[in-house]
Amino acid sequence: MKRVYLDYAATTPVDERVIKEMERFFNIDFGNPSSLHLWGQKALIAIDEARLIFKKYLNTDSLEEIIFTSSATESNNFVIKGITFYYLFKKKIKPHIISTKIEHESIERTLEELKNLDLIELDLVEPDKSGYIEPEKILNLIKENTVLVSVIYVQNVIGTVQPIKKIGELLKEINKKRENLPKILFHTDAAQAGLTEDLDVKNLGVDFLTLSSHKIYGPKGAALIYKRKDIEILPLISGPGQEFGLRSSTENVPAIYGFSKAFEIFYTKREENKKYFFELRDYFLNGIKSFYQKFEINGSLENSCGKILNLYFKDYFAQEILIRLDLEGVGVSISSACSVRAAQPDKIILALGYSKERAEKSIRFSFGLKTKKEDLDYVLDALKRILYYRR
Ligand SMILES: Cc1ncc(COP(=O)(O)O)c(C=O)c1O
Repeated sequence: MKRVYLDYAATTPVDERVIKEMERFFNIDFGNPSSLHLWGQKALIAIDEARLIFKKYLNTDSLEEIIFTSSATESNNFVIKGITFYYLFKKKIKPHIISTKIEHESIERTLEELKNLDLIELDLVEPDKSGYIEPEKILNLIKENTVLVSVIYVQNVIGTVQPIKKIGELLKEINKKRENLPKILFHTDAAQAGLTEDLDVKNLGVDFLTLSSHKIYGPKGAALIYKRKDIEILPLISGPGQEFGLRSSTENVPAIYGFSKAFEIFYTKREENKKYFFELRDYFLNGIKSFYQKFEINGSLENSCGKILNLYFKDYFAQEILIRLDLEGVGVSISSACSVRAAQPDKIILALGYSKERAEKSIRFSFGLKTKKEDLDYVLDALKRILYYRR
């Protein structure tokens, strides 16, 4: 049976070239970057090379602004908890944080936990029906003790792209006027943005940026957080002081090196990638329309990264379609991989203002750079059989 994976927003395979680049760090240049001997030096050079690649493409001022972590979840926790603890314990200010109702769980739950512990004040911006966050809505929520705004770049369930640059510009203007108040820092979770969007931190006007390896054809176990150099923060993981004292523990050298290679290969082709994703998406969408019309799109077709297509099938529960597709060799998702096992209606669809029923009847298809139209034909064929009875 043919198998077609359409869940690239959950994770991607590691690119063959990346695997080759990583290999020597498992058993030849396997040293600990903190060791002084040749093995250690070779590992340290690999980490430095990786950092240089990110410095170049993210357009950071210095190497110290790139901090490697183990996952985007960790990077997001680093920012949210690190800034919260810094303001609470060093500045004796109870911080106010503004985020959105369409963040990944690693932001959403972290914020919720801190709020439940009464450690932060929190406001969440509602998106419009298409999943777009209106920048002005953020501005309306700013208070004297606002210290952080965190907005997802590419939404992982519906694929909408948020106006990060615009928000960055507006916050810059606001900060100019906050003379005796804490400056508002701006974080974006760009875990889903690495294949298609601009990540130049100066152009975006962000102070923090989360990026993940396993969404861009790199290995799992590596991610980074960009932190503008003059920002003070308390580290989450303390120890011998790796990553400029901000994230201790022995570096995952093969994964970090592979992450940088994947980023270099795919980020530099982001315009091409986006074009290809749109082509695949439109082909797929038109294919479905040709035999079945009782569906609607969650999110926006225009303001999208292209690789994610979320559809509401009015006559079918998503679980039913997902299981039938799986039996036909096709892998898709109901929502983000993290919430699917809990079998709950997707919170993002609910956050758009839709019903529980719609949330339970929505499916996420996400395309890969190696997905071919023939693969989509196979999925369309399977869908045609599955949807046939309730046309
Ligand atoms: C937007 C977003 N942020 C964070 C994460 C968490 O990434 P990781 O699996 O690297 O912790 C994901 C993963 O799905 C994501 O899509």
